Amino acid sequence: MRCSAPGKIYLFGEHAVVYGKKAIACAIDIRTYVEVGIAEESVVTSVFGTAPLESPHYPYMRTAVNKIKEIEEINDVQIHVDSQIPVGTGLGSSAAVTIATLEALNIEFEIGIPREELARIGHSVELEVQGSASPTDTWMSTMGGTWQVPDRRKLEPPSCAIVVGDTCIAGNTGQLVGGVRRLYDKYSFMEQLIDTFDMVATEGARYLKSGDYQSLGELMNINQGLLDAVGVGHPSATKLIYAAREAGAWGAKITGAGGGGCIVAITDDPVPVVEAIKDAGGNAYVTEISLEGVRRE
Ligand code: MEV
Repeated sequence: MRCSAPGKIYLFGEHAVVYGKKAIACAIDIRTYVEVGIAEESVVTSVFGTAPLESPHYPYMRTAVNKIKEIEEINDVQIHVDSQIPVGTGLGSSAAVTIATLEALNIEFEIGIPREELARIGHSVELEVQGSASPTDTWMSTMGGTWQVPDRRKLEPPSCAIVVGDTCIAGNTGQLVGGVRRLYDKYSFMEQLIDTFDMVATEGARYLKSGDYQSLGELMNINQGLLDAVGVGHPSATKLIYAAREAGAWGAKITGAGGGGCIVAITDDPVPVVEAIKDAGGNAYVTEISLEGVRRE
């Protein structure tokens, strides 16, 4: 049984969502593929070779298998994984591999776990492996489409091209979230600043609905200013963001925790944006919103 699950980007609101504010996330058509089959012993094959499921290389898949075993007795499985999602750059690679594994096992062993429950189990896998995790990534990998969180309101997906630029510098999410908290605790105006993220996301939802991508991009640029203000920017990300804007993107900002990681740009003409990001030293991917979440291949 082969299943795939998408990664995700934030159009608005990362970091502010930690304070219960609105964020808008989109599943993107960069996916992780997981194939499972009954076998003599549980092993995982990836680009790195074949290793036992119990080895330290595959904590998400191992924990996903264990969660399924708590629900249903299942045989040993051979798992094959291949992923288009760069690891550790804020695109939700761990959520995608977790959700694709859970769904492949769910179908292979005819367990019948519904979607919302699958997302919940996926989040518990991430919590167990990472210690802390937002439920957004596993929700997006499961459901696909465009969502306002934390209230999980389904929104109109943008129908323009999405360009993801990877700085290839890994940010540390825990440290970045901690840095924002330090400012929040120190300065009383931070409450208003975090509220401003919420207002930008609210306005963004309006422009998504009307399809005014020029204004949507403008709001993403404002959101980027706020992210810089709370200290999660990085020179390498700024370089890619300005390169994308100068190449005609309507808007460009960090997606995810920042401190490097990935940027996202929206545009009607992705080719020059991709070229500009590459010239500025990043990797670039053109993608679209994935309307489908986890799916059987
Ligand atoms: C990280 O991908 C997104 C943050 O908002 C943290 C979180 O929501 O857990 C920075």
